[in-house]
Amino acid sequence: MAKVTASVYTSHVPAIGAALDNGKANEPYWKPVFDGYEFSKKWIADPENKPDVVFLVYNDHATAFSLELIPTFAIGTAAEFQPADEGWGPRPVPVVKGDPEFAAHIAQSVIQDDFDLTIVNKMDVDHGLTVPLSLMCGQPEEWPFKVIPFAVNVVQYPVPSGRRCYMLGKAIRKAIESYDKDLKVQVWGTGGMSHQLQGPRAGLINRDWDNEWLDKLIEDPEAAAATPHIDYVREAGSEGIELVMWLIARGAMSEGAKPKVAHRFYHVPASNTAVGHLILENI
Ligand code: DHB
Ligand code: FE
Repeated sequence: MAKVTASVYTSHVPAIGAALDNGKANEPYWKPVFDGYEFSKKWIADPENKPDVVFLVYNDHATAFSLELIPTFAIGTAAEFQPADEGWGPRPVPVVKGDPEFAAHIAQSVIQDDFDLTIVNKMDVDHGLTVPLSLMCGQPEEWPFKVIPFAVNVVQYPVPSGRRCYMLGKAIRKAIESYDKDLKVQVWGTGGMSHQLQGPRAGLINRDWDNEWLDKLIEDPEAAAATPHIDYVREAGSEGIELVMWLIARGAMSEGAKPKVAHRFYHVPASNTAVGHLILENI
């Protein structure tokens, strides 16, 4: 059967993708950011850890969806997904290969578990999905695993609660573990940490809150899931709400035994954003 082996959490700042694509990763501003992922690149390339499929929870930034259509939770069931983006334009990264059969299985299981997913058979993927891939895998000719994109609306209100995201993660784990193929699966939660991109508070960073929330996510995910929506916005800025996506990945981890913290990294600044990154292994 398929198995959730680990979860990965990372910010998805578009400027990180642009820095890598434009050969600036070793510049003094960016080097500390990329250094925080050196462990992660080795970790994911190790045959012990390398996943067959990554279930990648991210948010679209008006690339695939616009104000005309706003799915709260959308699962990508296509065989491939083209990189696209606003701002810097489509990144020069490999096409993202999906797993239509596995994605359809997960959709069936999760929808029968009372979570209403939007099924998307054609979808372009933006920095929310491709920057985490680049941070974890560098610049390969092809991405080394299949990816099931899972888009969460954290852009246009109303957005889903952290609690609902956490419960959804549990339903996703059940779906993955009922798939009749021996696959190593990782669930990734992306976006965050504290950042606000507009208005008088633009540039807001809250290190203490970010790190306390990370502690909770690791040690007491129920408590992290109970964080009210307004706390993300007040404490971590308007785009800090992206953090609810990390709760989907955390909910997909085994219950009972605490996960092993294989890696933890926090850095400020990257563009207007605090970068947070975690790797949790099921033991
Ligand atoms: C920026 C955009 C994002 O989507 C994000 O999550 C972080 C930063 C930016 O434009 O700097
Ligand atoms: Fe974002």
